[in-house]
Amino acid sequence: MKKKKVKKKSIVVLIIIILIIIVEIVNPIKLYNKYQLKNLNYQEASIENILKNNFKKEVMDLKYNKTLDIVFSSKDFNSKNFDVYKNIEYIELNDFTKNINKLIEKGYKAEEINYILKSATNESLKAFLEKDYQENVSKFLEYDFSILSNLDRYIKYQDEHNIDKELVVIYVNIGLDSNYYTNTNKVESFSFDMLVNKYNELDKDYVPESLVDVPSDYGKDQKLNETVLKAFIKMSEDCKASTGNKILVRSGYRSYETQENTYNSYLKTYGKNYAENYVAHPGFSEHQTGLAIDIKAESNEVFAKSKESKWVYENAYKYGFILRYKKEYEDITGINYESWHFRYVGEEIAKYIYEKDITYEEYYIRFLNKK
Ligand code: DAL
Ligand code: ZN
Repeated sequence: MKKKKVKKKSIVVLIIIILIIIVEIVNPIKLYNKYQLKNLNYQEASIENILKNNFKKEVMDLKYNKTLDIVFSSKDFNSKNFDVYKNIEYIELNDFTKNINKLIEKGYKAEEINYILKSATNESLKAFLEKDYQENVSKFLEYDFSILSNLDRYIKYQDEHNIDKELVVIYVNIGLDSNYYTNTNKVESFSFDMLVNKYNELDKDYVPESLVDVPSDYGKDQKLNETVLKAFIKMSEDCKASTGNKILVRSGYRSYETQENTYNSYLKTYGKNYAENYVAHPGFSEHQTGLAIDIKAESNEVFAKSKESKWVYENAYKYGFILRYKKEYEDITGINYESWHFRYVGEEIAKYIYEKDITYEEYYIRFLNKK
């Protein structure tokens, strides 16, 4: 009887020991936690750290958060910064966690850190981290098109011009805080949305893609990009159906040398001021892209006075063209009003620009510019 009791007790003890071993080794609670986090898509390395630092509940409440997934898997994770981390939008940058830690240390709040990271490249962030806390971050870096490396220029430009801060960011990004033809960028590759202006320059030997001859009944000895020519011919035909007259290409593609000659002949005939205001320096003309057209009307030598021009101003965007140098854009384009100069940008962009009435420079900065 006694023996039986002892035996029963031993079995109970043994079962308890086995249970403890199971709980310790297999750890079903941990397994369950891991399972839940994995279900939310967290990676293995992050899950370990989330559990080790006791953040499971907070993380589960937030569902999947890419920033948390990245910071928890990083050796730089600092549990004190969790409340900031959880409000940071993930941006692909080197040393993501380490850099957030540094920004927090410098005194930046989550909102500011988001602006900084969104406007940064690896290089500009590195340079920025050398500086003390900057108080203008929220003011100038809030836009999708803000550029971190331009922050000092935004501050200076607003001091000097006292204009709306969104315009400050756009104008500085265009390059307007430097004189025309200074601090220029090289434009390397062809695209229908490429920007060539007084800050964006083509090489001397740059020749655009798909140049074709303009048929002689649409222009004398002219070349254009093939797509642009097709769009122009369609526009011309529709203009004729509507007004009775075609429109023609007065000047399409111009090589670097032709532009140089054009500039020099204007300089000689009309003087420096006129040439600077109406003709781009060689390398800085849209005509070298094959995407620009000076339009000629059949009915009147002065395009703006022709009935065709009226139709063109209202309809060009439907064919992918914009009037590039309007009166109210002069300070931005650096070119005086040219009633005849149209630029092909494709139908979608042309429609947007026509409806919003903005320069191509502004469109480019808002939607196409690299940091
Ligand atoms: N006339 C325009 C601005 C050009 O020379 O490209
Ligand atoms: Zn032109």
